[in-house]
Order: sequence, then structure tokens, then C-alpha cells
Amino acid sequence: MALAEFLAELDDLLTGAKTAFDKAPDEAALESARIEFLGAKSGRLKSVQKSLGSIDKSDKPAAGKHFNEVKQAIEAAFDAAVGRLAGRRGESDAPGEFDLTLPGRRPRLGHLHPITQTIEDLKEIMGRLGFSVAEGPEIEDEWHNFEALNIPREHPARDPLENFYLATAGAAAGTSKDDRPLLLRSQTSTVQIRVMERTKPPVRIISLGRVYRPDPADATHYPMFHQIEGLLVDQHVTMADLKSVLRLFAMSYFGGEVHIRFRPSFFPFTEPSVEVDMQWHDRWIEMGGAGMVDPNVLRAVGYDPEQVTGFAFGLGVERVCARRHQVTDIREFYKNDVRFLEQF
Ligand code: FA5
Repeated sequence: MALAEFLAELDDLLTGAKTAFDKAPDEAALESARIEFLGAKSGRLKSVQKSLGSIDKSDKPAAGKHFNEVKQAIEAAFDAAVGRLAGRRGESDAPGEFDLTLPGRRPRLGHLHPITQTIEDLKEIMGRLGFSVAEGPEIEDEWHNFEALNIPREHPARDPLENFYLATAGAAAGTSKDDRPLLLRSQTSTVQIRVMERTKPPVRIISLGRVYRPDPADATHYPMFHQIEGLLVDQHVTMADLKSVLRLFAMSYFGGEVHIRFRPSFFPFTEPSVEVDMQWHDRWIEMGGAGMVDPNVLRAVGYDPEQVTGFAFGLGVERVCARRHQVTDIREFYKNDVRFLEQF
């Protein structure tokens, strides 16, 4: 065979092999291309090598040199194709390349915040006791947050240092009626007034929501927290009704036997007033305040204290939730640490 013909055959072979390897769509196709070109017994490179014997002796060194170059180039093209297919295997979403044996990636599911869960639980329990849910605004005027609740102007609870007053234009000027001072409500008792103003007795409501006080944060205090307010106004309502509703409520929420203890206290809007302690698993804990609605409050909303009586209570939702789940510091609820939150 003439040298030129031999060299041309090698070059054709290299072009054909490169094309076949580059185009192989998968490992199986690449393997059959490898056998066709590099096969040890009947591969095309092997048969060209056999014709090396028919080359003139003087041309043999040149022919042999070019043969080796082409052989190395074909092998390099094959290695490159192997690398290309292996790299693609890493992309799990390439069609036909999905590796079923890889462990799955579980999507992280969120859930309701523990305080939101508690609010839902409390609504459900109180709903079963016949209380419907009422809502009120978080930005309040002084009438609903103080005056109608029998908290007069000179009362220390109205001190600007004890409340979050809003810097409204009217508050600064202290003039027109529509520019009354506004504040973030400091208790959900405001909703009692709003409900009684628009409803005739009997009333049986709860209200749950955020309240704000400039309290320094510690294990049992936070400047923003939640309260559950309860109000029942009807004929012949007594302290015994208050105690039994709170006890039923606590036993449903905590599950099991819960004792209720009333300690004498003072709130301007209830008379008599009590602090409510609950005992669960041998520990007493203060949950909130309660009492019989003060006749002045009933009068402020147009009710006749000779005709109806009522009880009201306000409990801290963070305290209730923390007690049930043995959380020792309520600041944990607001750190947004998923390691804490995902336990609920
Ligand atoms: C009141 O807010 C009254 N409005 C409760 C009330 C309603 C009495 C109806 C009578 C009739 P007090 O300020 O004690 O009361 O707060 C009630 C509860 O809110 C507390 O017992 C506590 O559980 C919770 N609480 C008060 N301040 C904070 C705070 N900074 N962070 C978290 N919880 C708080």
C-alpha cells in the first residue's frame, strides 16, 4: 500500500472516530463506538494497523509514527467523551439521567407559630363553652383603653412611660376632637368596651390579640405579647361562674386536673378583682387578672348595672403556652430560631 493512501486512511479514521465519540448520547452508544474504532480484535484502527505490513520498508518509519499519533488522538477523544457523559450524570434533572438510587431531598415544611397554635386552641376550647370571637384594633384611643374602663386621667396606668403613645399631630397639639391621642393598646380589655357599645346583653365573647407595653424583656415579659380576654354579661352572673369557666378552660387546655386560685387584687374595671393562678403538675403560676365587671364600666357602655352583671378575665397567652410546653423563657417565642420553633 502506498504511504499517501495509508496516511489518508488514518486521517479519515481519526475524523470518523472523533465524530462518533462526540455524538454518542449515552454510555451504551459510546461503548459501541469504542468497539468499532478501538476494538482489540476487529476494530477499524486494528485493521489499518494490519495494512502497515504492506508499506514500503523505506516509508515504514513515517507510517508508524503517524499511526501512533492517530491512535493517541483517538484514545484521547474517547477519554474526553467518557468525561463528558460522567459530568452530565451529576445533573439529576437531565432527561433519562435521573439517579433513582440517590437519597431524596425532603422539602422543609413550615407550620404555625406556637403562639398562633395556642390562639387557635384557645378559640376552639372557649367556642365549646359558648364564647364567640370578637376583634378590636391594636391602635386605640384613650376612651377605649382607659376612660370607659374606669381608668381616669390622673391614673398612673395612663403615664406615657407605661404606654406606647403614637406621635400623632393631634397628640402634639392636643386640640381638635378628631386628633385625640392614640396609643398601641396595652390590654385586650379595650375589646370589652367595643363589643358592649354595639351589642345589647347578654354578651359572651373572647378576644385574642397583640398588646404592647414598654416592659423590659425578661423570662416572663416581652414588650409585645398576646392576651385572651373573656367577657360574659347576663342576668345573675357570679364569681362562681367565672371560676368554673376558667377551670373548665384550663383543664381542656392543659389536659388533666388543674386547680384555680383567686388572689384579691385591683383593676379599675372590675370589682371585686382577682389575680388568677393555676396549678398544674404541682406548680402554681400567675396567668392573668379577672373580676366582676365594675358597675361604672357597665354604665359607660349604656348597660343597667341593676339589670345585668358580668365577669371578665384577661390572661397572658405566652404564659399559658409556655406553661403547657415547659418553656422557661418566653423570649424564645420571638427569636425566630427554627431549632426552637420546629419542636411545636
Ligand atoms: C390586665 O392586663 C387586665 N386587663 C386583665 C383583666 C382583664 C383583669 C379583665 C380583669 C378583667 P395584667 O396587667 O395583670 O392585667 O396582665 C394580665 C396578664 O398578661 C399577666 O398576668 C401576664 O400573664 C400577662 N402579661 C402582662 N405583662 C406581660 C408582658 N410584658 N409580657 C408577657 N405577658 C405579660
